[in-house]
Parts: sequence; C-alpha cells; structure tokens
Amino acid sequence: MANFNTVAGCILASALFAMVVGKVSNAVVHPHKLDKPALAVVDEAPTAVAAAPAAELAPIGPLLAKANVEAGKAIYMKQCFTCHTIDKGGANKVGPNQWDVVGRKKASHEGFSYSSALQAKGGDWTYEDLNHMIFKPTTYVKGTKMAFAGLPKEQERADVIAYLRTMADSPKPLP
Ligand code: HEC
Repeated sequence: MANFNTVAGCILASALFAMVVGKVSNAVVHPHKLDKPALAVVDEAPTAVAAAPAAELAPIGPLLAKANVEAGKAIYMKQCFTCHTIDKGGANKVGPNQWDVVGRKKASHEGFSYSSALQAKGGDWTYEDLNHMIFKPTTYVKGTKMAFAGLPKEQERADVIAYLRTMADSPKPLP
C-alpha cells in the first residue's frame, strides 16, 4: 500500500508539474499570438490619415525654407510681371505694385483701384493666403480683378512666394 501511495503521489506530482509548465508556456507564448492582430490595426491607420489632406491645399510654410528664390524670380518675370511691378516705389500696372507685399494689408497699395471682392477679404497677406491667391485667384477671391489662371505646382508657388519675401527692406521671418 505504501508503495502504491508513493507511485500515486509521483504521478500526481508529475501531473501537477505538467499543468504548471503548460500554464507557464501558455503565458509565454500567448503574447506572441497577440502581435498579429495588433500590427494589422496599425497597418490600416496611415491609409485613413493619408486620405484627408487631398481636398485642402497643403500648407506652403514648410517648403519656404528650402525654396529657390532665383527660380521664383524667373517664374515671376514670366507669369506675374506682365501685370505687376515689384521694385520699391514701382508703378501700378494692370495689378498693384508688389514691393513688400508679404505681411502687407490686403488691397492696401496706394493709388490702385482694387475690386470690392479683394477689399472685402480683410487681413494681411500671410504666406498661406498668398499660397491660395497664387494657386487660384478666382477661387480664393470670388470676383477678383486678377485674371490669372494660377500656378498649380506647389514647388513653383513656394519659389515665387520666397522671391516675394526677399523684395522688401526687411524680409518677414520664415514661418
Ligand atoms: C493678368 C494680370 C495679372 C497677372 C498675370 C497676375 N496678377 Fe496679381 N493681380 C492682378 C490684379 C488686377 C490684382 C488686383 C486684384 C483685385 O483688386 O481684385 C492683383 C492682385 C494681386 C495680389 C494682391 C495684392 C494686394 O495689394 O492686395 C497679389 C499678392 C498678386 N496679385 C500676386 C500675383 C502673382 C504672384 C502673380 C504671378 C504668379 C500674379 N499676381 C499675376 C493682376 C494680375
């Protein structure tokens, strides 16, 4: 009988040991099983975020520091100079003179007869407002006199705005 008890005790002990080992290895293995679903959720997140900005014009601020002022001047001379002068004290032509236009109050250049639409717009010419104006003036200011299709390329707008910024006695700080 004593022998049987010893054998039974041994079997019980090994069974318990097996259970404990089973539990421990489960606990170790289990977190690895969780990795897959957790990663799958993370994988989906950027797609949802990336879809959002497409409708709005992306901010131009981050591009200005690396923009090419010389390229901007070349674009300006081709696309804007037909209607605007940009030298200090320059004349108004079809459009107003643009010396020191960054940070200037909208529709405020002396001697130029602005549309009532631009006069009603209000505020100063921030980098982002200039970005919208140059992108599509007729969309940004409904009823504007600026008959210009706009510059669809973000890099070209950044270059032109960087050039406008330099045409001032003390250029405004970059954003
Ligand atoms: C076909 C002529 C024409 C061209 C080309 C043109 N503009 Fe203009 N622009 C105007 C007129 C006209 C106004 C005045 C708009 C109003 O009163 O509604 C104006 C106004 C502006 C203003 C607002 C100025 C202020 O004093 O409030 C900015 C900024 C401007 N133009 C930038 C540009 C830039 C940059 C380009 C080239 C990428 C350009 N324009 C090309 C005719 C033009």
